[in-house]
Amino acid sequence: MKILGFGKALANKIVTNDDLSKLVETSDEWIFQRTGIRERRISDENTSELAYRAAIEAIKSANIEKTEIDLIICATMTADNFIPSVACMVQEKLNLGKNVTSFDINAACSGFIYSLKVASSMLNTYHKKALVVGCETLSKIVDFNDRNTCVLFGDGAGAVVIESDEKITDFYTCSIGNNTDLVARGIGTNFEMKNRVLESGFLKMNGKEIFKFAINVIEESIDNILKITNLKLEDIKLIIPHQANKRIINNVAKKLNLDENKFFVNLEKYGNTSAASIPIALCEAIEEKKLKKGDKVILVGFGGGLTWGSTIIEI
Ligand code: ACO
Repeated sequence: MKILGFGKALANKIVTNDDLSKLVETSDEWIFQRTGIRERRISDENTSELAYRAAIEAIKSANIEKTEIDLIICATMTADNFIPSVACMVQEKLNLGKNVTSFDINAACSGFIYSLKVASSMLNTYHKKALVVGCETLSKIVDFNDRNTCVLFGDGAGAVVIESDEKITDFYTCSIGNNTDLVARGIGTNFEMKNRVLESGFLKMNGKEIFKFAINVIEESIDNILKITNLKLEDIKLIIPHQANKRIINNVAKKLNLDENKFFVNLEKYGNTSAASIPIALCEAIEEKKLKKGDKVILVGFGGGLTWGSTIIEI
């Protein structure tokens, strides 16, 4: 799999820690010390609009005609609707014809890794160029009265355009069914269903459990993708982890005996944007010239489900 182009889309509205301290009992000091986050973006646009803007940037950077795209996969847990999918809405906004396969994947914050895996395995004689987008408007499912969660999340989208080449891209992906530690139930309308439990649709999280889980699975995912690819950490220019909490990343760096600078971190500006965090970070690492052509990068994600996974890509 070869990456042809990168793009990102961020909402204009910046919400600082001080802004949130007017809504809930918190402080810039607490949020920054415990998470590394200073501010996040909150969007007026829906997920498909952010996804579309990131897609346009990625197509432009790939230097291709948009009509060359024949596969669109959007990773999201905050789609505009149950149907149509965000991917189909992006297809419509791009005004592409019918010869495109478009669908969404929900693997929470691991969604971008899962989607890249699916897209790269579908590239063949039929599908030549895929648009893979991580896109979220988490502000839709965050309870701004709950200080345990509202300080952590933000909105955004990141996209890549890929095509197949002779190099196989390996992936390591896992999940474990867990219906308690990180949930956003959504609210259905058919309350006649006998087994429906009426609960708040907002995101709820057992922060301490997720914190421990994250450190373990990031380390596991890095180890395993290196084993699968027969590469060593010295071969890797940068690790781009899901951007959830700076302390999680620092703990992993310590466990792996790695310099913290080996990890790209931009969560200070955006908080946790779930499936969008890895492609946004990838895009910024390239813009900031921390990566150049030929560099190998580990992408590693974890999230609700619970899901986790990693891959190694070459720029
Ligand atoms: N401001 C001030 N105080 C707060 C806040 C806040 N925003 N939030 C919690 N506190 C309080 C708690 O009430 C608690 O008070 P108490 O001691 O009086 O009970 C105290 O701070 C400590 O709370 P902890 O939960 O122990 O804080 P911790 O150090 O564990 O940090 C955090 C909490 C930041 C949520 C951390 O556990 C974490 O980052 N967990 C992982 C979260 C994560 O990565 N989630 C994303 C998963 S990806 C996906 O799929 C969406």
